[in-house]
Amino acid sequence: MILERKMQINLPDLRQQFGDFHNNLKIEGLGDPRRFILEFAEFIQVYNSAMKGINTKLEVLDDEFHIRNSHNPIHHLECRIKGIKSIADKMERYGAPLTLDSVREHILDIAGVRVICNYIDDIYVMEKLLLQQADITLIKRKDYIEHPKENGYRSLHLVVKIPVFLSDKTEYVPVEIQMRTIAMDYWASLEHTLRYKNDKNDMMEYSAMLLDCANILANTEKTMQQIRISIEK
Ligand code: GTP
Ligand code: MG
Repeated sequence: MILERKMQINLPDLRQQFGDFHNNLKIEGLGDPRRFILEFAEFIQVYNSAMKGINTKLEVLDDEFHIRNSHNPIHHLECRIKGIKSIADKMERYGAPLTLDSVREHILDIAGVRVICNYIDDIYVMEKLLLQQADITLIKRKDYIEHPKENGYRSLHLVVKIPVFLSDKTEYVPVEIQMRTIAMDYWASLEHTLRYKNDKNDMMEYSAMLLDCANILANTEKTMQQIRISIEK
């Protein structure tokens, strides 16, 4: 099931995003903004295709798994393309120039797919099945399930490269994949809301409670997984 399907790059939407921010953006050698938007659309389109490719691969694996094992490892998929402002903000944080070549080199999460799985084991099964495919190259892996962050955040993060076959060339494009369970996702959404509010008092007040919740959820998930394994025996 794909909940967020915004799969096509849309020029009016890009113009709007660009119009909102171009006064603040210092794009080197920008020249004519209309030409830049077309170049940018072509640039971002490749990431969009890579994201669709990963989505399809995951759906195919989920469908096959369901037929073979009567179980869907994936609860749902979400995907997004990073907006112009987030790209610009990140490049500023990195202290890198805002050119397309530099963005291509520095930012690995322009295309993002979030895989929400039913159980913890499903995450590692899907990871293995995806990474064993011949056209996928792993370039970064962070296992925040095995090693949760101090705040309690858990998820498996992968950055993979996938080929996108264009009319005159093949590009190998990075896609960031965040894999987590429903409970991890539930926790991360609330924690994100708290962080987004950027209120120091709220942070102080709630971060210990959130850490407790993360640990309780993790223990509950382990128990649920064990129950499921014993039921299936
Ligand atoms: P950034 O992409 O700049 O964050 O750096 P990175 O690639 O080194 O970060 P990392 O792989 O740790 O995290 C990438 C993404 O995971 C973030 O952009 C968030 O979407 C998500 N994430 C990481 N840590 C947290 C966290 O503590 N809470 C929540 N809610 N999300 C997180
Ligand atoms: Mg990132």
